[in-house]
Amino acid sequence: MDGHDLVRSVKFVGTTQGLRAVLSAWRRRRTDARYLPPPAAERARVPGPVTGAEPCPGGGVVRFARSRLRVFVATGGAVFWGWDGAEPLPSYALAGTCPEPDTRAELEPDTDGGWRVVSERVTVTVSRHGAVEIRTPGGVTLRRELPPRWWEPTGVNGRPATGRSGFDVPGTAGPAGARWLLRSEVPADARFFGLGGRAGGPRLRDGTYRLWNTDPRGGFGPGDDPLYITMPVQLVVADAGTHLAFYDNSWDGRFALREGEEGAGSGHDRPGTSELRMDGGPLRCWVVTGTPARVLQGWTGLTGAPAVPPAWALGPQHARWGFGCEREVRRVVDGYREHGLPLSALHLDIDHYERHRVFTVDRERFPGLPRLAEDLRAEGVRLVSIVDPAVAAKPGDTVYDGGSAAGAFVRDARGEELRGVVWPGECVFPDFTDPLVRDWWGTLYEERLGQGFSGVWHDMNEPVSFAPFGDPSLPRSARHSLEGRGGDHREAHNVYGLAMARAGYDGLRRLRPDERPFLFSRSGWAGMQRYGGTWSGDVRTGWPGLRASLALVLGLGLCGVPYSGPDVGGFSGSPSPELYLRWLQLGSYLPLFRTHSAIWAGRREPWEFGPEVLEHARAAMAERERLRPYFVTLSHLARLTGAPYVRPLWWGTPGDRALRDCEDAFLLGDALLVAPVLERGADRRAVRLPRGRWYDTATGEVHEGPGQVLLDAPLSRIPVLARAGAVLPVRGADGGPELEVWAPAMGRTGGGLVIADPGTGWDQAEVERYTTRMDDGRVVVERLLDDDPAEPGRPVRIRGLGTP
Ligand code: GLC
Repeated sequence: MDGHDLVRSVKFVGTTQGLRAVLSAWRRRRTDARYLPPPAAERARVPGPVTGAEPCPGGGVVRFARSRLRVFVATGGAVFWGWDGAEPLPSYALAGTCPEPDTRAELEPDTDGGWRVVSERVTVTVSRHGAVEIRTPGGVTLRRELPPRWWEPTGVNGRPATGRSGFDVPGTAGPAGARWLLRSEVPADARFFGLGGRAGGPRLRDGTYRLWNTDPRGGFGPGDDPLYITMPVQLVVADAGTHLAFYDNSWDGRFALREGEEGAGSGHDRPGTSELRMDGGPLRCWVVTGTPARVLQGWTGLTGAPAVPPAWALGPQHARWGFGCEREVRRVVDGYREHGLPLSALHLDIDHYERHRVFTVDRERFPGLPRLAEDLRAEGVRLVSIVDPAVAAKPGDTVYDGGSAAGAFVRDARGEELRGVVWPGECVFPDFTDPLVRDWWGTLYEERLGQGFSGVWHDMNEPVSFAPFGDPSLPRSARHSLEGRGGDHREAHNVYGLAMARAGYDGLRRLRPDERPFLFSRSGWAGMQRYGGTWSGDVRTGWPGLRASLALVLGLGLCGVPYSGPDVGGFSGSPSPELYLRWLQLGSYLPLFRTHSAIWAGRREPWEFGPEVLEHARAAMAERERLRPYFVTLSHLARLTGAPYVRPLWWGTPGDRALRDCEDAFLLGDALLVAPVLERGADRRAVRLPRGRWYDTATGEVHEGPGQVLLDAPLSRIPVLARAGAVLPVRGADGGPELEVWAPAMGRTGGGLVIADPGTGWDQAEVERYTTRMDDGRVVVERLLDDDPAEPGRPVRIRGLGTP
């Protein structure tokens, strides 16, 4: 226990909850000490020299003295490699199946005794000592993996207890007991992104990044790491090209990243390095190469298309922990209406539960939830419910009784139902890694739908069990089904939230087959986009928290999770009117646009910050509503292409090094560039522009990129620029859809895609394609139908021809 832990535990004790948490933390420590293998003597192993190879579809198996490497290229161009017999499946990240090998790619001998696989988009070479290189078709190296190193406990006679024999056990993805280390090199100019939601991002600077989903307890800022969603997904952008590397392994681990340096020592480049140490689990990796757009398309092709939220979930939303009662909910909703503010959804937190128990309602404070939901719905406001995984361990509680009878809860190493402490007190935890438990849990959402909720918000699913010291989660020795394979929390921890999301999503689909579920989840892992989105979690109120909010959305988007957003105003405190407004202005351009706050935090209603803030907040929210058709388009494009709504400035021009380092602005789709104000007192800000012509949407002023411009950012708005030639769908003055078209530069063309809302069901969205060009000083807009140009068929508003 360190000093911090001690202070925390002293604070905790004194309440019954606190005392329980202390006991639970001690229990966790004790069981882990008793049931996890103690540190034993270890023996290091490297693959050793190559001994042979045999072809397999799309690649082959290369044999080494002390391991073997399977490598293949899949159709679509993704590369898989796995050591020690690791295969793509089983995997929590992949969307159920493994992509087919590209049978045109074949294993062939390389120079120097190594091997290579050449495919249309990528070349993989394997050196005779087991270094793996990923190269562009032009032969430029994007990534070089050095031979790995394993440490295995030595068994009797000093021989490895797992080790070589482990890799041939069917159904296992390698010797689980072995720790391993893999060092990779990337070009000297490369920048790292991704690894899930990192508050210090989106550019991941030199440092160590842990892979263990963690509730930072009491809120976080840019310096806090890890947070709720960690992923072994690394996106690397360099002059030579962009690639994504995914080490499909859910165990605890650490990335040590170090950016490279050009012309470092005696004029030679020092490559960037990524060193990954894992506590166990398979050593296998997928690499996707290409432009950023191609990489995200390939990545979501592997791990699943992002779920499309219903259109109402793209409007302004309001949440609070501690509305306290139905009257207060109605007061807030009325306030939005009376102040002329749009509101799409309102979220109820744990205080509407009976004694904090999931799937219950406090009937004294919320006597008529279905009626409340109906009344709000009539005003266009949906209700969303929090859902926590922990279940009060109280016989007589229907959820507990049902789950207990079905054997649904995680067990400890002795086989007893494991107890932890969360909001309702002593709790048990459903084992979402068991398909039958997922099915059972999914049925419980019927109660939520019956109460009138239209969506769910999964929380505390890292999973959290309160602890004043140590890891606030389950013991590592806790047992999990892991889809019937069996294993412990070391492997299940990071996929717990992902598996819960699957349970909720599948449950909702079964209960309401005709509606797309709306679900977002605090924790998750690679592939979570299949089930919904996420949000920032408890971002601390303050200017650094505002910055961290943007970092999270950008970073998660690059990991394939496009729908997210922060608690506007921050979770924890009382923002100044200026900070609140700047947060709201940023949030209004992010996919999930929601205010939320802790029970002890200050107000978040836009009218609580004085008339000036109210006026500017109203303008930001009205603009969000005007852009709603564009957000709908982006949500469908994310499903079709994997491209996040919110993209870093370098998205279309990854070769622009200045943009790679620019973290304080973003592209919203192809058409807009948003430059939020992230500093107190600022009324102008520098904005870096990608190449091409950009219009200031407020003043109509024209700017030519690449370069940097200084733009006004009065309290009333943040700078937003539109790309010349862009076509985006907006809500017209009469409420109907119209096309906003930004004049292309002379001699240039432009265009855009539009997808109209196909409703809340599963109907395929139609993609409309538009092109723009200048003809004699006139902007011509055409719709491409079967590649033939036609009239746009929608009202068009031209902008950028001198009139703001
Ligand atoms: C967690 C969530 C927060 C929620 C609170 C109470 O801290 O992150 O959003 O309000 O729990 O449920």
